[in-house]
Amino acid sequence: MVAEQSGEIVKVAGPLVIARGLPDPRMYDLVRVGPSRLMGEIIELRGENASVQVYEETGGLGPGDPVFPTGGALSVELGPGLIESVYDGVQRPLDLIRESEGNFITRGVEMPGLDRAREWEFVPVAAEGDQVEEGDILGTVQETPVVEHRLMVPPGLGGRVESISGGTHRVTDTVAVISTERGDVEVGMFQSWPVRRARPYRDKRSPRRQLVTGQRVIDTLFPLAMGGTACIPGPFGSGKTVVQHAIAKWANADIILFIGCGERGNEMTDVLLEFPELIDPYSGEPLTKRTVLIANTSNMPVAAREASVYTGVTIAEYYRDMGYNVALQADSTSRWAEALREISGRLEEMPGEEGYPAYLGTRLAAFYERAGYATCLGSDKRTGSITVVGSVSPPGGDLSEPVTQATLRVVKVFWGLEDRLAFRRHFPAINWLISYSQYLEEIEKRWSEDINDDFKQMRSEAMSVLQREAELEEIVRLIGVEALSPGERLVMETAKSVREDFLQQNAFDEIDAYSSLRKQYLLLKLVMTFGLEARKALEEGADILEIIRHPLRERIASAKYVREDDLEELEALTGEVVRAMKQVAEGVPGREAVVPDSAAKKERERVEKIFETY
Ligand SMILES: Nc1ncnc2c1ncn2[C@@H]1O[C@H](COP(=O)(O)OP(=O)(O)OP(=O)(O)O)[C@@H](O)[C@H]1O
Ligand SMILES: [Mg+2]
Repeated sequence: MVAEQSGEIVKVAGPLVIARGLPDPRMYDLVRVGPSRLMGEIIELRGENASVQVYEETGGLGPGDPVFPTGGALSVELGPGLIESVYDGVQRPLDLIRESEGNFITRGVEMPGLDRAREWEFVPVAAEGDQVEEGDILGTVQETPVVEHRLMVPPGLGGRVESISGGTHRVTDTVAVISTERGDVEVGMFQSWPVRRARPYRDKRSPRRQLVTGQRVIDTLFPLAMGGTACIPGPFGSGKTVVQHAIAKWANADIILFIGCGERGNEMTDVLLEFPELIDPYSGEPLTKRTVLIANTSNMPVAAREASVYTGVTIAEYYRDMGYNVALQADSTSRWAEALREISGRLEEMPGEEGYPAYLGTRLAAFYERAGYATCLGSDKRTGSITVVGSVSPPGGDLSEPVTQATLRVVKVFWGLEDRLAFRRHFPAINWLISYSQYLEEIEKRWSEDINDDFKQMRSEAMSVLQREAELEEIVRLIGVEALSPGERLVMETAKSVREDFLQQNAFDEIDAYSSLRKQYLLLKLVMTFGLEARKALEEGADILEIIRHPLRERIASAKYVREDDLEELEALTGEVVRAMKQVAEGVPGREAVVPDSAAKKERERVEKIFETY
């Protein structure tokens, strides 16, 4: 028997192992380390030494232990069965590992990403004799009640379909044979793809369609486009995870990828318990039927955390290639960057800012660049998208730290969470004064067709009121609220209503957790109509206190709890507000008789100025 060729360990440093004597080692090759064959990946070659990051605990390994080459790169299996799975950072099914190995994951277990025993019904789309090219759809499998899995001709392949067989198959079965210039190629139910290489597409276009998340501050103020990129930096406990869970639950994407990256295990447990219970508002099916979870919690090996974002985005690309809109969440990219830092430190690389490697920015950019709205491979020129949302956990909430800065350079949407708001229990604690979306202009154009002509106008008025409030707050802080004119007080009141009755949204309330875009529009219209009509009443000489204390305001405050089925209630309430404010104005005694004296005229001009931007 010929002995298996192997190298040997010369040094172990935490998750990093230095090996020597590996036959023909290449960067990013997958190797098996030690007698129990732990998974590892070559991440540096220096002289005859190969540095291997190991995806499992390295305790017990020592110099002289063997390292076996596998000849391949770290790859994921792409085929039916991905949806509803829960994987670790290198695509090992966590639930299956637990089942077979008990609660203590035995090291070195080889567990394929796709279930070998499960049977799928394959329905061919292509027929014998068809000419097909890379990306063409050969047939479909109903993966879950909501996801039709499209089996595609793998990238780089094309030719004539020699045979294709519908019916029940396992993932390892051959379903088609394609005759190519290089001979016949068997195509199975799954493809392998190296995670560090982006999957090919025809071209990328600029994102246009809105990714509706059901979160009002996001969708109305700082919207995200399908195929876009966003980041949520926020201090400890400010609500990053809650926002990302909300997006994963409610976004109008076809497929959801959630990567729990170095976060607490109980948060992932929450997801696992909650998602199967929740019903997708778009399909009426449990949310898990369109979701893939990747969990690499803080207690799991740090190298696998580094890999987890690539595993996730590669799976996302695969569904994009089918023509789906995928929304990918990474929580938190700071923990990922810390993994990078730890490994870089072990490699004894020259540290950059705050000990992060100099290539932190390039790596982050490369990850976010895998997002996008693309024309996919395949002769039908279908389109698909990957939207990437990453949370960032800057220590102490200091946005000038390297991970936040590097992220802000690449993403197009910034939702800045703030302690001050979270303390006041204003959730989502997204600061409207610092956040932005570079997709706003494109998305607003669509609102006039899809929702209403004045949505854009309402939004910009709301933003102006919020900005005016910030300026007026300064005055109040310095001189007190008495210094404000009635017009200014009204601006403050309107801003308060925008904040409390519109922006604040309780992720844990059955109704409030999700607002359709139409509901968002109607609610904003209600709040802003109050502001505009009250202003008119004020101009007619009404008393500011009567306006502020009007009983209808309580009903405005609870309007967010109106069900999606009863949205006409919001329109009716808006009508009531208009009438009520007219009454307030009409109730002013001797209104007609009063000739505005110069003081009143001055006041009027002052108020008008305030509302100029409004
Ligand atoms: N939209 C919301 N509605 C209601 N409560 C919220 C909302 N967002 C956040 N919270 C509250 O804030 C708490 C902390 O939120 P979360 O765990 O998302 O913070 P985080 O920024 O992810 O924290 P960490 O830095 O520890 O990861 C939640 O447990 C919840 O009580
Ligand atoms: Mg969190």
